[in-house]
Amino acid sequence: MERLSPAAGSVSGTYWDSRADRYAASMKLTNTDRDPFLRRLRRVTHASSTAIDVGAGTGRFTLALAAGVDHVTAVDPSTAMLAILQRDARRLGATNLTTVTSTWEQARTAQVDVAFSAFVLTLVPDAGPFLRKLDAAARHHVLLYLGAYSADAVLDPLWRHFHGASRAPGPSFLDALAVLRELGIDARVDVVEIANQRRFATLDLAVDYYRDGLFLSDTPDVSAELAELLRYWLPGRTGALRSPLRTVPAAIVQWKPGLAS
Ligand SMILES: C[S@@+](CC[C@H](N)C(=O)[O-])C[C@H]1O[C@@H](n2cnc3c(N)ncnc32)[C@H](O)[C@@H]1O
Repeated sequence: MERLSPAAGSVSGTYWDSRADRYAASMKLTNTDRDPFLRRLRRVTHASSTAIDVGAGTGRFTLALAAGVDHVTAVDPSTAMLAILQRDARRLGATNLTTVTSTWEQARTAQVDVAFSAFVLTLVPDAGPFLRKLDAAARHHVLLYLGAYSADAVLDPLWRHFHGASRAPGPSFLDALAVLRELGIDARVDVVEIANQRRFATLDLAVDYYRDGLFLSDTPDVSAELAELLRYWLPGRTGALRSPLRTVPAAIVQWKPGLAS
């Protein structure tokens, strides 16, 4: 992503600063309470548990979990993402959480009962040290939430149209499992379906979103061409255009810590 779009900033932080509002808005559409990952987190925690959310972003899991545990630490390098988390924590009156503005690789945090990370690992240049640190951070459980499909399954036809070739598939949970195995960790995996609630109120908003995902330049010609394609590509009624996928598969990867070799 950094190579294809050098102006967008590092995906470890600055990239997310300019996308924080949009990310928060799209997360507001998802029903976190019904999310299989949150349900799993609730099953492995209780009122006296401590947890760490690595790459917490705008905090959908931190905030939902904080209500039922003793303390949550939210680590993320993006100040804009964490600012939204802090604002929402104030609104909810949640005082049992701490934010740490840092990449996980550089963060200094105390050990907790449960360490988890949702949709972050594929953005990390070197997965091994990241996972080893996650393993060392937890006393009882480590959980990852990762896509179980390549985003290009959706974007590929558009990618081919603009770039003239298919895109190399991005990493998925299978790559995470391979790295975990190298570290001596045999994790439990459950593939779940999560609702894809993203809606676009206007075609222009869809163009902004997909132009970003396709790494296209923000010029009138490119935007007009993309709008023309998306007009046919996106189902849904005017005012609520949506992706062709109603649900997407994701994987919950879980293990007991202390296994990393
Ligand atoms: C796709 S968002 C996921 C946010 C949240 N976990 C969720 O599921 O809604 C990815 C987040 O990972 C953060 N991130 C990227 N690289 C990171 C790293 N090396 N350590 C910790 N967080 C990182 C980004 O700043 C961003 O907020």
